[in-house]
Amino acid sequence: MSLINIDQKKMGPNHMQRIQKHQLQWIHQLKQEPKNLERWAKIELLSQFSECKLDQCKCEGWLRKPNATTTTTTASSINNASSNNNAGRSSAFINSSNANSITRPTPPDEPCSRTDCNHAFEDHVVNYIQATDVELNRLLDIMVEAEILNTNSGIEDHEGTRVVYQYLSKFLRNSITTMTPPTMDIKLGSPPFERPTIHQALTNFALHNFSHKNEEEWRFMHELAKSFLTAVNIWMLDIPKQSSTDREYNVIYSRWLCFCYVPVFIESLTLKDPTQIFGRMYLKQIFPSVTNNWQSTAEKRCQTERQKALLNEFLQQLKIEINSNDSLIWATEFDPPIPSFFNTCLIEETKLKSLIKEIKEERERQVNKGGDLFSDPVSLIPEMSSARDESARIEEKHGKIEFHIIGNSMNRRIDKHDYLWLNAIQNVISHQLPRMPKEYITRLVFDPKHRTLALIKNNRPIGGICFRMFPTQGFTEIVFLAITSNEQVKGYGTHLMNHLKDYHIKHNIYHFLTYADEYAIGYFRKQAFTPEITLREEQYLGYIKDYEGATLMECKLTPNIVHTQLTSVIHIQKEIVKRLIQDKQSQMRRQYSGLTCFKQGHDRQIPIDQIEGIIECYKGNSDSFRQVKEENPETVDSIYSQLSNILNLVKSHSAAWPFLKPVSPAEAPDYQEYIKHPMDLKTMSERLKSRYYVNKRLFIIDMKRIFNNCRSYNNPETEYYRNANTLERYFFTKLREIAGVRIQTCSTRT
Ligand code: COA
Repeated sequence: MSLINIDQKKMGPNHMQRIQKHQLQWIHQLKQEPKNLERWAKIELLSQFSECKLDQCKCEGWLRKPNATTTTTTASSINNASSNNNAGRSSAFINSSNANSITRPTPPDEPCSRTDCNHAFEDHVVNYIQATDVELNRLLDIMVEAEILNTNSGIEDHEGTRVVYQYLSKFLRNSITTMTPPTMDIKLGSPPFERPTIHQALTNFALHNFSHKNEEEWRFMHELAKSFLTAVNIWMLDIPKQSSTDREYNVIYSRWLCFCYVPVFIESLTLKDPTQIFGRMYLKQIFPSVTNNWQSTAEKRCQTERQKALLNEFLQQLKIEINSNDSLIWATEFDPPIPSFFNTCLIEETKLKSLIKEIKEERERQVNKGGDLFSDPVSLIPEMSSARDESARIEEKHGKIEFHIIGNSMNRRIDKHDYLWLNAIQNVISHQLPRMPKEYITRLVFDPKHRTLALIKNNRPIGGICFRMFPTQGFTEIVFLAITSNEQVKGYGTHLMNHLKDYHIKHNIYHFLTYADEYAIGYFRKQAFTPEITLREEQYLGYIKDYEGATLMECKLTPNIVHTQLTSVIHIQKEIVKRLIQDKQSQMRRQYSGLTCFKQGHDRQIPIDQIEGIIECYKGNSDSFRQVKEENPETVDSIYSQLSNILNLVKSHSAAWPFLKPVSPAEAPDYQEYIKHPMDLKTMSERLKSRYYVNKRLFIIDMKRIFNNCRSYNNPETEYYRNANTLERYFFTKLREIAGVRIQTCSTRT
């Protein structure tokens, strides 16, 4: 199979390869060419995809008279260019178009030569005429991509691949016609195609099969699972055999082409990871070959025999899980156990659910416990007064206020109500923004391309946001926003904005842009707008209206947040944490008399579990207590004397001289560039004196850092390097003799 039939000899006609960088560059270059044309020529190019806009005409694209010269024939240009992948031929795309091109635009009234149309050129391209340059360029990109796929389908040997290319090409052409972003609506179904996905199943696998292991080994298995997922993601599927009747594989292959392979070079399509959209069926198909390949890479990660054994265990168990009919990891409802070392952070789900219910009911009771809710709802819920939009949310819940999206239209009947509301809102805006010309406000509010989110109270608009959506550009411009004077600072502005955010998330737009004047910047900041713009300029320049003296601000929306509920959710979360702490505190309320043994002067140390109350702190988690106890079997005093002994011996060794004090800039001016965490024996002595080394691990880390720093900065042939090795060996010996700690010396280089 070929990508775009370039470099045929290298790729071979039926040999799928990973897409090469130079091929992507070539596509990029190809896309660049039509963008260099004059605007009218761009419109000519796109006209072939532009259906006739006249009522009842079914014509799907402009067709010139056969004898007329054309601006360019896109398909042939791409064919020419793609048949040879070199810069000279690639520019044939533009040269050939120039050779055939007309030097002036098509007259607007020239009729389309399709017999069932015959309507004027202008009737086809009116939408392109209104489009900005950025939008035209985006459509030209899609046009080139559609042609690349079309060309490839013509030279593709494998029928299934050919069909997918044709399908995607047609799909892209449709998106040019409708001027909408290509959102894959595929006959083969929508992703995820299987549940659980490979990603979910591998997570289940790591949790279910290995949670009995200790933390270190579990983390190793978890790393293996991640690495295996990457291997699956980059795996190239084999082309099905021409005569293959394996329907399952054919379907998988076509889906993989559409979502995981073609989008790598056809950027208008959304690229997905196979592990996020496929499940067991897919993994079964590729498991033997992926594993063969991945195993050798994974073995390189194994530093010990134990890790090699773990890798074998991982692969054996995964194979069983993939083939077993009773495997739990592929069960949709499966809820695997969490390893015990994570348990301290978790609350039982049932407890959590009952807590949430309790908090919600309590809030309801507070809200409903009489009084005039609407005159001052916030005062009824004192602990919630920090949430600015809370009162507005409650008012909405009780039907006191409503939110409606309204707007003018040229081609559908508008409710009389909507007109009255639009009129009232433009009055509010004019009042609140006195420096804005009233006619200008009226024009935009009533412009059919603009929409208004109206806030209605007692059947009367008290504010609104006028906005314009640019779905193709992925953003919406907030044009005006106002709340009538006597209703301001009650949280309506915030709740209105939250509604607008939720509305846009539903419509897959995740960016707001607005020009805010100096008075409004504060408000917008509080609604999560910032002056840092993350959208690329070509996405919004030429679209959004530019206001002099105002600051452009952006708000990025997060799809998994329901903004109108956000403060309420945060409130519940805070309340849960508060109650859990209270719970814990009530269990620990008991006061102990305190330690008297030291006052009496008999003891210098006592075992940790003899301190009253300590064991109770670890109630229900005796493992953690055992761990703490094991980590602290010795007192700081006894550790100090052992470490001080070792440090003195190390300092007096003949190889210690390079490490006695910090490396100075005079000795090594570039030292800091390479060594981010310097360490030396003098610093270690100071740390020891200040009782910094509360356990031996900290001491060993610092000492090893001295040697590792030295070896990374110096050449192996230097005396410094050799001294580091000698002193490190000596240190390990003394550590074993004096402190009883054994360390593997394999890190020492010779
Ligand atoms: N500057 C700084 N902060 C402001 C502000 C401003 N101009 N207007 C409101 N805020 C603050 C509020 O004090 C509140 O802060 P808090 O939560 O810390 O208490 C927060 O922003 C939101 O207040 P809220 O009650 O939800 O907003 P609102 O109902 O008062 O409406 C406006 C806010 C901006 C719509 C309203 O003040 C207004 O109509 N202003 C005039 C028109 C305007 O400037 N529009 C914006 C540009 S088009």
